[in-house]
Amino acid sequence: MITDRDIEKIFGEFLKQIKDRKMRQMTMKVWVDGCRDGGWKTLKELEKMPFTLLTDCHGVNFIEHTKAVTAGAMGLARAQTDSYRKLPYRIDMDRLIVGGLLHDVGKLLETTPDGKGGYKKSKTGACLRHPISGTVMAKMAGFPDEVANIIACHAKEGEGAPQVIETVFIHQADFATFNPLVMKNGGKLIE
Ligand SMILES: [Fe+2]
Repeated sequence: MITDRDIEKIFGEFLKQIKDRKMRQMTMKVWVDGCRDGGWKTLKELEKMPFTLLTDCHGVNFIEHTKAVTAGAMGLARAQTDSYRKLPYRIDMDRLIVGGLLHDVGKLLETTPDGKGGYKKSKTGACLRHPISGTVMAKMAGFPDEVANIIACHAKEGEGAPQVIETVFIHQADFATFNPLVMKNGGKLIE
């Protein structure tokens, strides 16, 4: 079974930057419950899971993706706080980190081993894409609507929808990891 300790092992560098202790614990709980409900029993299993089924990930796994998106979104936020004399909106760093760690947590239910060494979309995934299942998971754990907005609206579901500023940063950081792979796989990334 994947425990709080395992989640601390993989995301500790980010978890320790969440100032609100309760939010930190709730983030770990959503991950632990998601691993249990998705049938992910060990970190080893989890570390083999590709971050998307939509394109060849070239070995980039789900954990690496989650970290890259969280770090990327934090970088985008810092770029503005460090460069602007006056920030036109308030950025909540706790919310941003939690949103980064949870934006794709629904994939724990959406993706499943196919029994042939690969991965496929699960029945849950066919019914609910990860932004929807992840939103339900976060709301059930007690997260506020603003965190739910990040998860619900970080992908195509959020196009044109009202968003908190943290959703904007997570969305951009997410697509900065996804688009280059799609371009590479389509022969459109100049290398
Ligand atoms: Fe993502």
